[in-house]
Amino acid sequence: MRVLSGIQPSGTLHIGNYLGMMKPMISYMNRESLFVFIVNLHALTSVINGKRLSEDTLDVASDFLALGLDPDRCVFWVQSDVPEVVELCWILTCITPMGLLERCHSYKDKIARGISPNHGLFAYPVLMAADILLYQSDLVPVGKDQKQHIEVARDVAMKFNNIYGETFVIPEGEINEEVATIPGTDGQKMSKSYDNTIEIFLDQKTLKKKVMGIKTDSTPVDKPKDPNTCNLFQIYRHFAPIDRVAEVQRLYIEGGAAYGTIKKELVGFLWDFFGESRQEKNRLARDPGYVREVLATGAHKARTVAMETIDTVRQRVGIRY
Ligand code: ADP
Ligand code: TRP
Repeated sequence: MRVLSGIQPSGTLHIGNYLGMMKPMISYMNRESLFVFIVNLHALTSVINGKRLSEDTLDVASDFLALGLDPDRCVFWVQSDVPEVVELCWILTCITPMGLLERCHSYKDKIARGISPNHGLFAYPVLMAADILLYQSDLVPVGKDQKQHIEVARDVAMKFNNIYGETFVIPEGEINEEVATIPGTDGQKMSKSYDNTIEIFLDQKTLKKKVMGIKTDSTPVDKPKDPNTCNLFQIYRHFAPIDRVAEVQRLYIEGGAAYGTIKKELVGFLWDFFGESRQEKNRLARDPGYVREVLATGAHKARTVAMETIDTVRQRVGIRY
């Protein structure tokens, strides 16, 4: 089975990205044919600073490696290093109904937030479909917000197969409900775009400041609280040891949970949780040549698969003569 997922290099990665996407991907490494890539072409829909985009691409790559992705046990590359994806995107664009894209929440949400849409933002799900289909992916683990984009990829794949004959594997999305939406410090979904993130690699002082700033209600310590609706607990439960999580959960329900104490504990747990990875990240920062080499090898492997698919597609649609 081929498992594929991508992440945008559009800012520093946060613990929502880690729990929602990076951790599940890394856990597939030993079991399946794993394809992981950095979607810099998608990031172009929102990042218009070339220097920043190229720096962030290397940064996200070293985050992944530092967090445990082993490039010898997966295919790890940067999207734009396999240009066939853009060709496939155009071919798919020509069979994608406007209505399908007009219904996409992610596009509609951005417009609702006043972002003036470019064509790239509108066509975003088609490029994502091209990513998924080019590599004949069976399973695509993503956060809940990407579920509809997987539906688009499935619809487009089925339509192509109907018109031109069986060409693409129909992909399945995989959303881990446990970590479907990690809340940010303000209680909304943690997102680079909302300024409510706790980044994976922060210095201790900033980490403390961010965690202590997590919004909580004003229920007194001794009164019962609902752990399921408390965004502090919803972060805490992923990083504290299980028996401590159970204990704190009991304090929420029975009364006695002190937000300040829980926050202080969380700072320590987060710091330790990413301790080894932090050291590896610092080491990689001193060796960008190694990261580039890893990505070049990955691009070569990915392109071999891509060439096979695009060759069939070219024949089927009639652009080879
Ligand atoms: P952001 O919203 O910060 O820009 P992206 O849209 O780049 O994040 O998401 C990258 C990956 O991380 C996706 O698979 C997405 O679903 C996942 N993800 C992002 N934010 C969260 C979150 N708060 N909880 C769980 N998963 C998340
Ligand atoms: N749209 C995804 C996100 O923002 C990133 C992405 C691009 C992706 N292409 C993909 C995810 C292909 C999975 C498969 O999170």
